[in-house]
Amino acid sequence: MNTIELHKDTSFDVNKLREQFPILNQSVNGKPLIYLDNAATNQKPLSVINSISNYYETINSNVHRGLHTLSERATEAYEASREKVREFINAKSANEIVFVRGTTEGVNLVASSFGKANINEGDEIIVTEMEHHSNLVPWQNLCREKNAVLKYIPVNDEGELILDDLENLITEKTKIISVVYISNTLGTINPVKKIIETAHRHNVPVMLDAAQAAPHLKIDVQNLDCDFLAFSGHKIYGPTGIGILYAKEKFLEDMPPYQFGGEMIKSVSYEQTVYNELPYKFEAGTPNISGAISLGAAIDFINSTGLEVIADQEKKLFDHAMNRMKEIGGIRFIGTAKEKASVISFLLEDIHPYDTGSILDNLGIAVRTGFHCTQPLIEQRFKLPGTVRASFAVYNTTEEIDIFAEGLKKVKQMLA
Ligand code: ALA
Repeated sequence: MNTIELHKDTSFDVNKLREQFPILNQSVNGKPLIYLDNAATNQKPLSVINSISNYYETINSNVHRGLHTLSERATEAYEASREKVREFINAKSANEIVFVRGTTEGVNLVASSFGKANINEGDEIIVTEMEHHSNLVPWQNLCREKNAVLKYIPVNDEGELILDDLENLITEKTKIISVVYISNTLGTINPVKKIIETAHRHNVPVMLDAAQAAPHLKIDVQNLDCDFLAFSGHKIYGPTGIGILYAKEKFLEDMPPYQFGGEMIKSVSYEQTVYNELPYKFEAGTPNISGAISLGAAIDFINSTGLEVIADQEKKLFDHAMNRMKEIGGIRFIGTAKEKASVISFLLEDIHPYDTGSILDNLGIAVRTGFHCTQPLIEQRFKLPGTVRASFAVYNTTEEIDIFAEGLKKVKQMLA
């Protein structure tokens, strides 16, 4: 180890980092773009953008099929990416990583395949009141098909899960619990390890929707001991249309395939088919090869920036935003959990979220407004017409947040 390595430079230069994100350097509605919709999707560094074009410029070919050199190179890059994902979430084996389109497909795969094999009439599935539609509608549909029962862990006024009754909610009919790790709407970081421990005491497997967790905190599936976990590439600085499902091998072995066709087979005759080994049994058809490879580039970006650096910067932005927003007055925060990620949902006076969002957009500031794909949480639990949501990423700056706060003041002056 040399001296440079020993005295690693820990200073973080956000302006230097922003040079890697060309999209941030533009005007929107005549104002410099301030992108605060990172929970919906975050922006991509040049390394990820280049890895997509590099794939098509140099090794575009189908994977696991050809004997020719390009196909071998594409397969190698595709599988190297799977290994990066394995390491990123500390899975035991790359066989436990299935490439899917995103978190939504990951949940659908489990609901469909595990559900088909394990859920019967009268069985129970537990989710929470703060689920994104992606971790609610697939289970609702499964319950409708199987005549099973969907139960909800309640949420308190601060936006935290009320877990006191979890032991009672779990019965001998409970077949799976599926929980969001970090709420996209409230920002709450749920105590998923505790939920998993409780569920496992009753032999109930747990799935985690880690779409919002993956960009913010270190995921260690072995330490969490979760049985299933899904996240999307586009929320971790990677491309859209690619994500992963992690599942313990014992579950994947027993689960029937989700889709059928090429790649997921070992041998086919006119009479019958022998399915492929893991994880290919769950990857029917030509996969999103460039997406998977550039997901690997996104993981490289996170690793080289450092998850701790990312978390520190986001915490700084979150604290700064909360201070500036509290100064304005008249803001109601939705989701004030003690453990929170860099997501702020709010209402300004009695102004409709869409009006706040539109005026901010005119000022070049991108936030999300509405239900954030959690309609039951917003409408039924919090009885609101929607919220405005600002969510931060490592490339955002405190100066941007100052302009956002000035924008909110303007909205207040105009409409309150
Ligand atoms: N799940 C994304 C969001 O929270 C789309 O905005």
